[in-house]
Amino acid sequence: MTGEEKHKDIITLAIETSCDETSVSVLKNGRTVLSNIIASQIEQHKKFGGVVPEVASRKHIESINGVIEEALREANITFNEITHIGVTYGPGLVGALLVGLSAAKAIALARELPLNGVNHIEGHIYANFIQHPELEPPFMALIVSGGHTHLVYMKDYGSYEILGRTRDDASGEAFDKVARALGLNYPGGPEIDRLAKLGNPQAIKFPKAYLEDGSYDFSFSGLKSAVLNYLNSQRMKGNDIQQADVAASFQQAVIEILTEKTIACSLEKGVKQIVLAGGVAANSGLRAMLKVACNANAMNLYYPEIKLCTDNAAMIGCVAYYDYISGHRSTLELNAIPNLKIGQRH
Ligand code: KG4
Ligand code: ZN
Repeated sequence: MTGEEKHKDIITLAIETSCDETSVSVLKNGRTVLSNIIASQIEQHKKFGGVVPEVASRKHIESINGVIEEALREANITFNEITHIGVTYGPGLVGALLVGLSAAKAIALARELPLNGVNHIEGHIYANFIQHPELEPPFMALIVSGGHTHLVYMKDYGSYEILGRTRDDASGEAFDKVARALGLNYPGGPEIDRLAKLGNPQAIKFPKAYLEDGSYDFSFSGLKSAVLNYLNSQRMKGNDIQQADVAASFQQAVIEILTEKTIACSLEKGVKQIVLAGGVAANSGLRAMLKVACNANAMNLYYPEIKLCTDNAAMIGCVAYYDYISGHRSTLELNAIPNLKIGQRH
């Protein structure tokens, strides 16, 4: 950056289309959100009980231009005032990612603007920088979403050490599958969260997988199967199913594992700040349990407001900004990488 550029505000237009939300945000200097429009496709996917990739791509194509216009309008900004473009290029559904990428590259090309491709998972962590302007690395991040469950030590901006990950289902995926078995709507996480408040978390003892001694990896498929087996056996016996108790007991098992491993890992690393990120970070039980555990261990807990927990473009713009000011640029060759890993660079 030249000396003159350093003093100018950087106005980022960020685009996120990795799954089932078409989102566009305008940010000033990375952490001030001027608009964050999210067009959710949940209604389209509900009837299928999950995200249908072809439907997602088609809906992104239909929505993207309108969402860009709305984001500019709400930010009270014209195209001429945008100085920088950020876009998610992975991980995610390839057809869905390509819609956002094509739009971002077209704008960058037409207006000769710098472009930064963003890793969606890093975006979830950075949602916390928007919410908490005082937050700085180093910290431990627990990233829990529909596609990912990671325990990551973030030493500095852009520097990640993965200390634990799921070996099978992501935590959000487990919420969605158990919800489906209970006959609840997609996405299941918020439904289970709501129902769990009415149930007894100690009613049913579901197994928790801790894996080998000292491992910070997670496994949720055994727990999910135990819930499905429990539901089948109760139905076969003709017993009434106490939905709220099942939801509360399942949620309790998930959040206990997440909390215990996050605290143990942070103690081992000597980390005093914990950051919660991703769609499952919206879970009220998880927030409450981690808060108590952090207080007991003199650690600070950070999490974003609900809108910034689930997929949104503001978090993508925040990563793009930090990438930009550290001198990185993506070219117009930038392509979608459906299985992009955290910390991996294009
Ligand atoms: O981060 P996200 O919007 O998309 C991905 O990147 O995957 O996360 C979506 C996931 C879904 O599995 C959804 O059920 C879960 O987050 N989720 C929740 C809650 N709100 C959303 N899970 C538990 N409790 C919630 N309140
Ligand atoms: Zn996400």
